[in-house]
Amino acid sequence: MFDVKKIRNDFPMFKNNEYMQGKKMVYFDNANTSFKPQQVIDAISEYYSKYSCNTHRGDYNLSDLSDKKFEESRKVIADFINAKKTEVCFTSGASMGLNVIAYGYQKFLTKDDEILLTEAEHASNVLPWFKVAETVGCKISYIPLNEKGKLTPENLEKSITKNTKVVSVAHVTNVLGYVNDVKELAKVAHKHNVLFVCDGAQSVPHMKIDVKDLDVDFMVFSGHKCIGPTGIGVLYGKYELLDKLDPLMMGGGMNTKFDMCGDVGYLLPPLKFEAGTQNVAGAFGLAAAIKYLESIGMDNISKYECELKEYAVKRLIEEVPEIKIYNPEIDGGIITFNYKGVHAQDMATLLASYGICVRSGEHCAKLLHNLLGTDATVRASLYFYNTKEEVDAFVEACKKGSDFLDAFFA
Ligand code: ALA
Repeated sequence: MFDVKKIRNDFPMFKNNEYMQGKKMVYFDNANTSFKPQQVIDAISEYYSKYSCNTHRGDYNLSDLSDKKFEESRKVIADFINAKKTEVCFTSGASMGLNVIAYGYQKFLTKDDEILLTEAEHASNVLPWFKVAETVGCKISYIPLNEKGKLTPENLEKSITKNTKVVSVAHVTNVLGYVNDVKELAKVAHKHNVLFVCDGAQSVPHMKIDVKDLDVDFMVFSGHKCIGPTGIGVLYGKYELLDKLDPLMMGGGMNTKFDMCGDVGYLLPPLKFEAGTQNVAGAFGLAAAIKYLESIGMDNISKYECELKEYAVKRLIEEVPEIKIYNPEIDGGIITFNYKGVHAQDMATLLASYGICVRSGEHCAKLLHNLLGTDATVRASLYFYNTKEEVDAFVEACKKGSDFLDAFFA
């Protein structure tokens, strides 16, 4: 295993928290975004101080160096998920990736077709499909979740009809944190010739991903949730599918030609999907983030997070009976809960008064509240740099749930 205390020294955010007014900060909002190690900050800075020029557009040495480093970053990312370099397209994040897929695939859909989602999806895996369905006139249907809110391959099998063309689901859901059996789900979809799209925003930062083994057609993720920079993300697609997909963004750097009659030729993937100047510094930073995660080991990260979460859940169940945990059994670092009689936002405010950072509300998954039977929850999400001591501070603060009004009147 790794030395968490040592790792935390790499993250300036654990040192620079003067805005905490003397309180020790416990950052448990990692499903929202993550802290960055100095290595990532240095890689971004290195681009601006040593390589700062545009990619794929210059004939001078600096431009060559920048191109080389940018494409090396793509290779680091491709290797990380076991993809080919030509299958890794840079985006601004998972949301953009899902939009690229939905709008790019629209031309293959007709009004008789059906797109399958679940109620547990993040807005970014719902709203682009709503727009496409509205434009094409096709139908959106929902695969029923089981009584615990989990998607099963059996329910997918039952939901597929002769009209189903696309299934788009999260690998790990962002509220309940279930790890979907993506390999099995993809197998079911492919048996029926259905496209399988996977939102990896909450899985890629936390576990080993092999897109070839999972056999997903497309997968997206964001850099900022895996200790990388904001504004950079990845769209992975099987090359032959990327080749068929229409680009969402048009502009410089993605075309081979265009003329006054409107005849346009596209570059091959991945550049076909990277119109305009790419986020070059972001790519450098994301590659550094991935190298950092790999130096710890993705299996070590998953194992550690599961242990930490189990420790937190055990303490909460034993010591804070007023807390209802919606996902006590999941593997991974997400704990979603409510304190009896206290609104989620009040609870998050109370926790903040003790220095604990969590997210409250619907967490961008606005279809899920029917299933949960509540319109808002508190979500604590752990990462490999969190500690048992931080869990202890969190549990002690949770015990004060009934004092939430003190947060306002103190
Ligand atoms: N998708 C992020 C979350 O779940 C913002 O918090």
